Amino acid sequence: MIIANTIEEVRAQVREWRKEGLTIGLVPTMGYLHEGHASLVDKAVTECDRVVASDFVNPTQFGPGEDLEAYPRDFERDCALLEAHGCDMVFHPEVDEMYPQGGGTTDTFIEILSEMPKQLCGVTRPIHFRGVCTVVGKLFNIVTPDKAFFGQKDAQQLAIIKHMVRDLNFGIEIIGCPIVREEDGLAISSRNTYLNPEERKAALTLSQSVKLAKDMVAGGERDSKTVLEAMRAHIEAEPLARIDYVSAVDGITMLPVSELSDGVLVAMAVYIGKTRLIDNFTVGE
Ligand code: PAJ
Repeated sequence: MIIANTIEEVRAQVREWRKEGLTIGLVPTMGYLHEGHASLVDKAVTECDRVVASDFVNPTQFGPGEDLEAYPRDFERDCALLEAHGCDMVFHPEVDEMYPQGGGTTDTFIEILSEMPKQLCGVTRPIHFRGVCTVVGKLFNIVTPDKAFFGQKDAQQLAIIKHMVRDLNFGIEIIGCPIVREEDGLAISSRNTYLNPEERKAALTLSQSVKLAKDMVAGGERDSKTVLEAMRAHIEAEPLARIDYVSAVDGITMLPVSELSDGVLVAMAVYIGKTRLIDNFTVGE
């Protein structure tokens, strides 16, 4: 596996692959990789001739007081996982390489102006999706992939990236991949490492409430208020949990809906102690 630290190295390799007529898949990540990330690489390997993963903790998507400095990092372990899953190149730039202006910032952002990035996670993280769109747009320009792979775990991010690609004519196919869970149901996340054993147990309240809601919907309940109330009650019964949001929104616009029809996204963010975790499901999937 090639390790590229500079944009120029990536571009030179991509030019070689293009000369050979090969297709390229991109898996953007912030590193500290786990089986969720690996599933995206696996999918990319089946769909593209060459797979590039990016491993970069993107400063512009962290707000003041968030966990940018504390965000876990282990590049050596990441490389081992990527290589084992058949990744061809990892792009691991320094902050100044990605943000040449210096200081991990930029004057030029990609920002979706509709309500989409203001809903759900956007309420408590108002600059988050602007940073995500900006770094993903930069990665698209650097790697010029045919396809890019994102997890349904970050469902709002996935919807926003699809919207950005359409609006800015990136001409890249965005592939959404299912949530990978631990055996007990917890959605795998790099941030799970922040949880102490007691919090790890309490974190099950998220996936349990997803299951509860799925069962209610499968049983014919379509009123979002009823389902969301049941989910909230379940989570509130866990003393270590504090709800950020539990919402049902249109899967494309991210605007709240009252009926749980197919394609509706039921999503939540919950603090377990100081750690903010997310989970979701899409009705009918
Ligand atoms: P990160 O949190 O590292 O996630 C990278 C990709 O892995 C995202 O598409 C995310 O949805 C996916 N992923 C994480 N956990 C998953 C799981 N349990 N199952 C399936 N997929 C999972 O998301 C980001 O980084 C950043 O915002 C990024 C897009 C890289 C931009 O900086």
